[in-house]
Amino acid sequence: MTTVARTRADLASTRAQWMASGDSVAVVMTMGALHAGHAELIHRARERDDRVIVTDFLNPLQFAPGEDLDKYPRTFTADLELCSNEGVDLLFAPGPSEVYPVGDPVVRVAAGPVGDVLEGESRPGHFDGVLTVVAKLLNLTTPHRAYFGQKDAQQLWLISQMVRDLDVGVEIVEVPTVRDPDGLALSSRNIYLVDADRVQALALHEALEVGAAAASGGPAAAVEAARTHLTESSVKVDYVALVDPKSFEPMQGSGPAILVVAAHIGSTRLIDNVRLHVGTGERG
Ligand code: PAJ
Repeated sequence: MTTVARTRADLASTRAQWMASGDSVAVVMTMGALHAGHAELIHRARERDDRVIVTDFLNPLQFAPGEDLDKYPRTFTADLELCSNEGVDLLFAPGPSEVYPVGDPVVRVAAGPVGDVLEGESRPGHFDGVLTVVAKLLNLTTPHRAYFGQKDAQQLWLISQMVRDLDVGVEIVEVPTVRDPDGLALSSRNIYLVDADRVQALALHEALEVGAAAASGGPAAAVEAARTHLTESSVKVDYVALVDPKSFEPMQGSGPAILVVAAHIGSTRLIDNVRLHVGTGERG
């Protein structure tokens, strides 16, 4: 049975009981609309930690005006059922006034230069909003480990840097992307895709495969191959880039790299990425 906490006080009292018994605590942060990708994060957490907290908070701070905050799927009953089935101990599902009791925070975490490129260029201020809520949720849940998906590669990179740069006492665990059998990366936003979009959306994963296969020819060859595939699939490309996992800057030379893509399918914006090795052509 998963306990639901709506307030920080309820969260703190459960957390204190676990602290007293010396349990290790994991957190899986989400915006709700849970799917098998979120469930995989929970599995990993359950394997390793004694107690698992899932946070379910649709964070207004990371949505710009005109983005999909209003239509973002809200499926609390199903989310709670998934958490119960997956053995989650506590579902922390606060409202905005519980997380931001005095309104929008005046002091925020600044994502820095990597917050302004790729996803950050298309969504100004997005990563400051993400890092600010992640920092708050880490402070409220005080976990030993926090689990994040590679699906959101730039977000994961920035969270890891924040933890390092601000000496946050938590271990960040990365979880590989969960996909449908045909390759489409699971996302809460896939629910927006009508049938024709769902077929076209496969172009993202295919482009990453084509790009990865071309990576033995160097970074430019990988990017070019992926971009060509998207264009030929009549997909509106937002960006395609090959980045160095150490810096999230454009990849140069050979070594481990991440091929990242964002594209519009109908009115839905999707992102995906794949880890690879430039030079050997191996997958990472
Ligand atoms: P959300 O999009 O709900 O994702 C929650 C977590 O699930 C993130 O760590 C994300 O990378 C992971 N995830 C999503 N789809 C996945 C997939 N197909 N395979 C593996 N992991 C997947 O990311 C956010 O929420 C928010 O920005 C948040 C970090 C909660 C801050 O508000």
